[in-house]
Amino acid sequence: MRLNHFLFALLFLTLAACKQKPTFSGYSIQKSTLADSAIVSTAHPLASEVGLAVLKDGGNAIDAAIAVHLALAVVYPAAGNIGGGGFLVYRSGDGQEVAALDFREKAPAKAHRDMYLDAEGNVINGKSIEGHLAAGVPGSVEGCWQMFQKYSKLKDWKRLVQPAIDLAAKGFNITQAEAVGLNEYRKGFLSNNTKACAFVKADSTQKWKAGDLLVQTELAETLQRIRDQGRDGFYGGKTADLVAAEMQRGGGWITAQDMADYHAVWRKPMLGKYRGYDLISMPPPSSGGIALFQLLGMVEPYDLGKMGFHSPEHIHLFTEAERRVYADRAKHLGDADFYGVPIANLLDSQYIQERFANFDPQKATPSKAIEGGEFTGKESKQTTHYSIVDADGNAVAITTTLNGGYGALTVVGGAGFLLNNEMDDFSAKPGVPNLYGAIGGDANAIMPGKRPLSSMTPTIVTKDGKLCMVVGTPGGTTIITSVFQVITNVIDFNMNMTDATHAKRFHSQWSPDELYLEKGAANEATRKKLRGMGHKIVEWSGIGLVESILLRKDGKLEGVADNRAEDDTVLGY
Ligand code: DON
Repeated sequence: MRLNHFLFALLFLTLAACKQKPTFSGYSIQKSTLADSAIVSTAHPLASEVGLAVLKDGGNAIDAAIAVHLALAVVYPAAGNIGGGGFLVYRSGDGQEVAALDFREKAPAKAHRDMYLDAEGNVINGKSIEGHLAAGVPGSVEGCWQMFQKYSKLKDWKRLVQPAIDLAAKGFNITQAEAVGLNEYRKGFLSNNTKACAFVKADSTQKWKAGDLLVQTELAETLQRIRDQGRDGFYGGKTADLVAAEMQRGGGWITAQDMADYHAVWRKPMLGKYRGYDLISMPPPSSGGIALFQLLGMVEPYDLGKMGFHSPEHIHLFTEAERRVYADRAKHLGDADFYGVPIANLLDSQYIQERFANFDPQKATPSKAIEGGEFTGKESKQTTHYSIVDADGNAVAITTTLNGGYGALTVVGGAGFLLNNEMDDFSAKPGVPNLYGAIGGDANAIMPGKRPLSSMTPTIVTKDGKLCMVVGTPGGTTIITSVFQVITNVIDFNMNMTDATHAKRFHSQWSPDELYLEKGAANEATRKKLRGMGHKIVEWSGIGLVESILLRKDGKLEGVADNRAEDDTVLGY
């Protein structure tokens, strides 16, 4: 049930795109482009246009990111959001500054470890996934506000919010993928809302069609308050009161005080190295940076190019590394503000090599034979990603989410925005898988004010002090392995960014003990060999939706929007 839900949350837009031929082609979709100055790659053509216009108006990558973020909250309600949260990884064009902003949702003050368990101590199905109790205190607006305060070049907040207001107030034509998504979730919207919401037609028996106009009047009003009052227009006053009233009506726990108390946090970005490249990624409460660096560290001693792309050796090596890294994730990772995550130990190169010492090139290690590593020393499913580089070379990688498609399926009455279901990213009970099949324990147990563990891995790669790549993706636990593959596709398999992004992917995460191969990812001979090594192969129809940028050796920017979903679009100039 949960795994089905997971697969659906992860893939519904991709599948939606494949199920029917698009009937609405009002938008021009571009999957790959070369540009001299700047690139914006996002999940929706209108959001990419909004970002490009900001850049052409003299805004920097951060200005464009703020406008894109708020536009996505309108035109891509499955994952774009103001009711969710996310992470920014930033590098200035001159390389003098790198930053990571954590605007992940927080558990409300009333939350507690066993809040999703019944009297017998069993997880109550769906309670952390749909409805008011599934939501954490949203972080996106604080995220945009903090970015604006610190890095905006335009210094014109209203200019950045206005495009989203216009899209919400005047409406926009929905794409085929969006129509399918809204129709799929109609039952969920009807059962999880206390007031009528814009995502269900007034006559609720009517289905959405590509090209229909989606007007979000209440969302436009909330965005106007954000435009006029900045973060206080969301975390205080009318919006916070509407959130509190919605919670009262629906039995949720977020209070106006929780809203007022929310703060995003500037964190020290994770810095790593791989074959002479430098990487900047997200620290806890994301597992992304740590897991990515562990994976790269485990495979670095091997000559991947010689193995051959998607050879049995390549897939086996990556799967075995992933098995060990995800076991560590389950045991050790959580919000480091609340739990002593042994970051230095997990990233210690000797530990990483020892952890991989029992790798057998001929045979899969059963996951049950692997546990989270022990240290001897002391510790010294819908999301969206957008990548932006501006004319000064400033780079932004932001992954943001409501968690599942359309989050908790609950709209704040009168405020028009969807609440996240990020509470499901906590470990509701040790060993019980969440929406993405991930398990955890104490490190990721629920506590008031704590942030749930994430897999989001916005990442920037540099070489010899110069920008090289910007990468990120949605996909729950597959985020980390997708980013891992795109980076190694470029570095080890010499692909350009278009091929590196569109290449088929595979994924494994220790538990369940399975190897997921994207349809077409490996030929039958390779699959047979992998099965012979002991891998249980499961076929998936789409892994990740990567939006990426490569600064080529000739100085051109190659921007890519994943071709796995219909709407993702890259623009540049
Ligand atoms: O933070 C996380 O890891 C999850 N909430 C991400 C969810 C996700 O990527 C869903 N997308 N397909």
